[in-house]
Formats: sequence, structure tokens, C-alpha cells
Amino acid sequence: MCSGLIEKYVAAMVLSAAGDALGFKNRSWEFNRSGEDIHKQLAKLGGVGNIDIKGWKVSDDTVMHLATAEALIEAGKEINLPKLYSLLAEKYKDSMEDMNGRSAGSTCMDFALRLQPEKSDGWIFPFNKHGGGCGAAMRAMCIGLRFRHPEQLVNLIQVSIESGRMTHHHPTGYLGSLASALFTSYAINRKPPHEWGKGLLDVLPSAKNYIQESKRDVGENLEAWSYFETRWRDYLVKRGISDGKSQASFPEVYGVKERDEFYRSLSFSGWGGSSGHDAPMIAYDAILGAEDSWVELAHRGFFHGGDSDSTAVMAACWWGAMYGFRGVNASNFKNLEYRERLEKVARDLYQLS
Ligand SMILES: *[C@@H]1O[C@H](CO)[C@@H](O)[C@H](O)[C@H]1NC(C)=O
Ligand SMILES: *[C@@H]1O[C@H](CO)[C@@H](O)[C@H](O)[C@H]1NC(C)=O
Ligand SMILES: *[C@@H]1O[C@H](CO)[C@@H](O)[C@H](O)[C@H]1NC(C)=O
Ligand SMILES: [Mg+2]
Repeated sequence: MCSGLIEKYVAAMVLSAAGDALGFKNRSWEFNRSGEDIHKQLAKLGGVGNIDIKGWKVSDDTVMHLATAEALIEAGKEINLPKLYSLLAEKYKDSMEDMNGRSAGSTCMDFALRLQPEKSDGWIFPFNKHGGGCGAAMRAMCIGLRFRHPEQLVNLIQVSIESGRMTHHHPTGYLGSLASALFTSYAINRKPPHEWGKGLLDVLPSAKNYIQESKRDVGENLEAWSYFETRWRDYLVKRGISDGKSQASFPEVYGVKERDEFYRSLSFSGWGGSSGHDAPMIAYDAILGAEDSWVELAHRGFFHGGDSDSTAVMAACWWGAMYGFRGVNASNFKNLEYRERLEKVARDLYQLS
């Protein structure tokens, strides 16, 4: 039982990075707006099962995800939030030195470089009306590995929000971080995926309370709150899973082209998966549709015309947390950049959890 769980921690961290590298393909797939073109190139490579990941760099998503994980580990078992926030700030700032060829997002770069980890409030920035991007969500999955027990939900909420708003102080941004962490905790606890969406909506009131109690730019946060929540409510209605009981239903025809259109329709500005609400949503859509098939997960969650590495980094993490490495060709992760570092943080997080 326990050896099974540790393997799932490892798979969550390693496959997340593999998904990122696959969706990114050294920039060329992250920024290609046509899922059909990407799938044509994929077919020429022999499909995802045939890809040797050697030479496919991980992107900013994984570098920052490792930063989150390493901060959580260095903070240790006793939870001291000021110490943890200062470590997160330090690791995020340092991670900017490893962004060559990784297409770091501009909001992450701007804010991470301005963090002052040595000052007590050096990680606090004011509300940012442009802070709704997916940069907070893409690096938050491991918070759900650290705080996976139901009685740690309050920690998961606080830490995902505060780590998120170090660069994305906007509810669309930091609630993406919450969704990313929460779904990872659900995945590792084997909560059936069709229940996750309602679970998120049920947690949002506690997140809102936390924002009110934290007394930082409360008015602006509450004013901008409803976008994320409304978008999620609409999505769950569309899939027929608002009740947290029904199985997801998909359109009869839901191929590469239809998915591109749907992902675009979820987006804030036409690029599916680039915001805090729709990156976890598209990843979740892929999880619901793929069930236990890694190949199907990749087709839906890694290879599309949107911000593919950021949806992949989450989808693959959740999938690994549920299924381990089952049915994944080792060529997809054996020569992965930072594999040893990823395995180590996974084991350390397991020890802390
Ligand atoms: C997407 O990939 C196709 C096939 O390689 C290429 O022709 C097209 O120019 C690419 N589009 C973008 C926006 O990079
Ligand atoms: C796994 O990947 C390797 C190398 O990329 C390839 O030679 C092999 O055929 C793949 N196996 C399967 C089952 O797809
Ligand atoms: C990605 O870029 C690196 C250099 O930055 C190169 O060595 C590698 O071959 C490239 N990989 C792919 C899949 O294009
Ligand atoms: Mg990226």
C-alpha cells in the first residue's frame, strides 16, 4: 500500500514534467495555435508512445514547480507559514536564473524578480488586475501532495493562494493555483475525477473567507472574484457533473478540431489554457475524457492549439498521482531533464505528508 503511494508521488512529479516537455516541444508546440498541425507532426514522430524525451527541455512550468516543491521540503514538517513564504519567494526568484529557452511568462518574470525573500513582507504585492494568467496554477500541484489529508485543507488553501499571489494577485490567477493543488490532493487520495469539480466549488467559500480575513486588497479581490467561479460553474453544467455524482458527458464528436474550438471558448482572450481558470479546466477535461489511458490524456491535454505545456503539466501530474507509470512508455520520461531532482522531491514530499 505505502510503496504504491510513494510510486504515485514519484509519477506525479516526473510525469508532470514529461507532460510539460511534450506540450512545450522546445517552444514550437506551446505556441502553435493549431491542434491539427501538432497532431500531424506527432503522427510523423510515431505518436506519443514512440517519443524519446531526450533533448526536449522542460519549460518554466516545471522549473517553478520544482521551486515550490523544494521550498515546501526545506520548510520542514512543522508548519511555519512566514518561513515557508519566505522560502517560496527565494526559490521563485532564484528559478528565474534557469529560464533560458523555457519561455517564462512575463507576469511570473516581472514579479518573481521583484520578490525580496530576506524582508518579512517582501513577498507581498498589491492586487494586480492583469494577474489572471496561468503562471500561479502551473507550479502549485505539489502543494496538494504536501497537504493531501482532508484535515490539512486549510493549509492547502492558504499556501496555494499565497504562493499564487506572489506573482498573480488576482482571483483568476491564484484560484487556479488552488484548483491545481486541490485536484492533486484529490488524485492522490483516489477521489473519482467526476467529483472534483463540485469539490472545488464547495471549497471556494473557504478561500473567499481566507481572502477576507487576510485583509489585503479585499475589495478589489471580491470584485474580481466571480469570473473564476462562474466559468467553473458553466463548465460543470456543460459536462453534466455539477452534482458531483453524475459521470461526465462529452459531445458525440469531440476530436482534435472540436477540442481546440471548445478550449478556445473557455478562454479569456482566445488562447485556451493561458489563464488561471481554464488551464486547470482543460487539464480536468482531459482527465475526465482519458480515464486510464496516457495516450488519450496526451492527445487531449498536451497536444492542442492552446497553452499546451501548462495544461499538460497539471493533467499529467494528476494522472500520475492516480495511476502511477502504468502504460507509459519509459521513453517518455527515462531521459527527462531534472528527472533525478523530480524523483527526490517526490520522495521527500511523501515523507512530509
Ligand atoms: C504550426 O505547425 C505547422 C506544421 O509544422 C506549421 O506549418 C505552422 O506554421 C505552425 N504554426 C505556428 C503558429 O507556429
Ligand atoms: C517506446 O519508445 C521506444 C523509443 O522511443 C520505441 O522504440 C518503442 O517502440 C516504444 N514502445 C511502445 C510500446 O510504443
Ligand atoms: C531542444 O533544444 C535543445 C537546445 O536548447 C536541443 O539540444 C534539442 O535537440 C532540442 N530538442 C528538440 C526536440 O527540438
Ligand atoms: Mg511553460
